[in-house]
Amino acid sequence: MSIKSDLNNLVKKEAFSLHMPGHKGIRLKTDTTELSMTDNILNPKAGIMELENTISHIYNVKNAYLGTNGSTGLLLSSLLYAGKDKKIILPRGSHQSIYKGLINNGQEPIYLKNKIDELGIARPVKAAEYLPYMGLVNSVIFTSPTYEGYMEDYSLLKPFLKDKISILDGAHGSHLYYISNQSNNWMSLQVHSFHKTLGAMNQGAIILSNLEEDFREYANFYQTSSPSFPIMLSIEDSIREMMSMKIDKKLKAIEWLKTEINRIKGFRVIENDDPLKLLVAIDSDVKVKAVVSWLEENKGVFLELSTEKYILGLLSFYDSMGNYEWLVRSLKSASKHFKMNAVADIELGIEKYIYIPEMKMLPTEAFFSEKKEVDIKDSKGMVSGVLYCAYPPGSPLIVPGEIIDDYVIEKILNWSGDYTGCRGIKDERIFVSK
Ligand SMILES: Cc1ncc(COP(=O)(O)O)c(C=O)c1O
Repeated sequence: MSIKSDLNNLVKKEAFSLHMPGHKGIRLKTDTTELSMTDNILNPKAGIMELENTISHIYNVKNAYLGTNGSTGLLLSSLLYAGKDKKIILPRGSHQSIYKGLINNGQEPIYLKNKIDELGIARPVKAAEYLPYMGLVNSVIFTSPTYEGYMEDYSLLKPFLKDKISILDGAHGSHLYYISNQSNNWMSLQVHSFHKTLGAMNQGAIILSNLEEDFREYANFYQTSSPSFPIMLSIEDSIREMMSMKIDKKLKAIEWLKTEINRIKGFRVIENDDPLKLLVAIDSDVKVKAVVSWLEENKGVFLELSTEKYILGLLSFYDSMGNYEWLVRSLKSASKHFKMNAVADIELGIEKYIYIPEMKMLPTEAFFSEKKEVDIKDSKGMVSGVLYCAYPPGSPLIVPGEIIDDYVIEKILNWSGDYTGCRGIKDERIFVSK
């Protein structure tokens, strides 16, 4: 029993589709719906159930639930499970989906401050920093690994979390099992995007549960009732592919790549904890954006992210040695083209803590309050009515209910990035609570 065999059998058998989707298979034959020969993600009994059981076995948790709305959908489900109007501890640098959950459920955030390094990267909050707050809440949120590949082992908190709901935003950590790093797999709920660091199609995600009770109702809550079979199939395929993947060889190739990059004048790999996240600093006399555009235009190399100080590339077990050789050759050419100077070894110091404006109202109160639009220059002292997550770094600059101050105004006025997933700032105007 598998999603693949269900779909293969259906594709062979079906002569005329009188069901959704309306494209009737012309886009993609496997893009079908719940039929007698296919399973139902909302109440799985066949191929999907089999895959969820396999995943829970591999990841060594009680239950696993597939999702086709990314980690976003499943983090929203976790927040729903945490309960209405509850207090929740979370790192301020948490992903916007967690804030959207807080808004939805009327929860009160208690923030832990991420440390920010010299490159502007938010690091995971250390386990010990959670300790003083344990008595205040019944739900605690963690993020590891981070987008930039920094991890934290929270095992020391295990005894303090026995009667609490621990939620791991492990969106970037679906591959950790395969590199023998499962230090946080004891948490109540763990969310992983299979499309980020394994081989699933975009939106393919899972939630792993160690809860005694069934999480299905919550997993289903934000799950579309027209789930994508190609996405579910891609999760199954990626699990099968990992079984025969030569991980040691892949990790050696990544090591080789990093050593070679460090030999190129003008580039220096920055150490982090996740081998798949390639962080590289560039000669400070050269504009990072110029190098990134040059690599795109001349070498067809497209990166995950770049800031004024570094580039971030996502490596994967699906990369080939040929890909890595191409990247090394491309960076060598860039080095020559921009006449780069050598970059010394980088030991990143911690610069500061993440900034948190003062909270005047709960996020939910401000979000659902009546709002007005004002010029950002006139907004000092007003309460933000919406979530502004500047990207990068993607964590909120200001959350509904917080007071707009000089720091926020200055950041918004000088920001050249975008506001992916949140309300953007247009014509320097911002929404505040009336
Ligand atoms: C830390 C973190 N959590 C959650 C998400 C949401 O994941 P998805 O894109 O699968 O919805 C992201 C997305 O980038 C993320 O960086």
